[in-house]
Amino acid sequence: MRHPGVLAAAADELRAAIAPERVSLDPDRLLPYGHDESELGDYPPELLVHALSAEDVRRVFAVARKHRLPVVPSSARSGKTGGILAVQGGIGLSLERMDRILEISVADSTARVQPGVVLARFQAEVEKVGLFYPPDPNSLDTCMLGGNIAENSGGPRCVKYGVTRDYVLGLEVVLPTGEILRTGRRTIKGVAGYDVTGLLVGSEGTLAVVTEITVKLLPRPRHVSTALVVFRDLEDAARAVARVLAAGVLPRCLELIDDVCVQACARAAPFHFPADAGAALLVETDGNDEEQVFAEIVRVAELVQGDATGEVIVAQNEAQRRDIWETRKFLSVNLKALHPYKLSEDIVVPRSRIPEMVRRAREIGKAHRLLVATYGHAGDGNLHCNVLYDRPDEKPRVDAAVGDILRAAVDMGGTITGEHGVGLAKRDFLEYEQGKELVALQRRLKAAFDPEGILNPGKIFPERS
Ligand code: LAC
Ligand code: ZN
Repeated sequence: MRHPGVLAAAADELRAAIAPERVSLDPDRLLPYGHDESELGDYPPELLVHALSAEDVRRVFAVARKHRLPVVPSSARSGKTGGILAVQGGIGLSLERMDRILEISVADSTARVQPGVVLARFQAEVEKVGLFYPPDPNSLDTCMLGGNIAENSGGPRCVKYGVTRDYVLGLEVVLPTGEILRTGRRTIKGVAGYDVTGLLVGSEGTLAVVTEITVKLLPRPRHVSTALVVFRDLEDAARAVARVLAAGVLPRCLELIDDVCVQACARAAPFHFPADAGAALLVETDGNDEEQVFAEIVRVAELVQGDATGEVIVAQNEAQRRDIWETRKFLSVNLKALHPYKLSEDIVVPRSRIPEMVRRAREIGKAHRLLVATYGHAGDGNLHCNVLYDRPDEKPRVDAAVGDILRAAVDMGGTITGEHGVGLAKRDFLEYEQGKELVALQRRLKAAFDPEGILNPGKIFPERS
């Protein structure tokens, strides 16, 4: 139990060291900092600090070490695995006000940004000067780059372009021990030393706090073509995915929607599926040569026509393209109309096992008397199995179903998370995937960065029994 005077003393020291108006003990202001998109409940911090610089973060750690208080960093709070929940209380450290784009260099194809920059805003700024930052988590209108770094986020375009880690060249970070370090580089190439930057990306705010990010950028593809293909069932759709990729076409998106999702779309989505639709694929190609981009989507259409029912619908203009994407983006909302609660998993399996995994997830749902709807980034085997339910008191059954789904993915040679991280939600399954020894090695790495265990405790690794 913490002595009641500790928080007041820590708050006083932080007010003096940082700024009184950026330090709060007010429960109403703390509450939103204990909640994300994980459905894991509310775990607000006991004290909240808004940082504006690496120096602020260093000061927060100094106070935290002195009083042995946990520090839990956050930015947009849109994560899906509970990474920002202050499960052991302590100081909530918000980076959301560090929201400046510091530099976009066309000559070097790089950019430097602060962690509180909203992803969509950054992408728009970069595209204005003819450049491109591909990682595109579905939450891009609200999520922030700091959170993207923490989770190594990805989205539909990652099948062609890779995930966040593939774009991060270097970081400025503050260690819990107080050092302010620059990792990596600002050149496109470079292999000196261990890849500390690569380790920090995806470390879910457990090793260091990121205060500046250097990313590489690509030339913006000038043309994009989007198509929607409807199938009788999932097997046909999965066969089509395999056919496209085996033919040497690499679309920039290859999104799969199962029958439950298709039916959910029928309620309110802009695109109207035929009554017998049992699965759908959303395909997108891109490049600089308009004819070639169109030729590629036609090639995809030819490849999948045999498996599809009806015509392949190719968007003829920006409005049609938007309709197709809105249909995918509204899935989450439309599924919630079927059942008010849902838990969205993000397993990955080898591509060849997608139909088996979708079937298995559904059987698992049935065994627990729950409906499972699957959609996802089929091109890279990343599936969002959504367990749907009606009342919070069904959560124990939902958790049991989720556990079975995660283990099934691992048993098929896959992983428990392709995008959302382990956080609090999946820490009990990390050893099932990686084994005790590898988890122990990762705990030793954690101790090298954070010997006192004050940074974001309780995440990624299972509790010691
Ligand atoms: C998506 C999120 C759930 O792809 O990752 O919709
Ligand atoms: Zn996703």
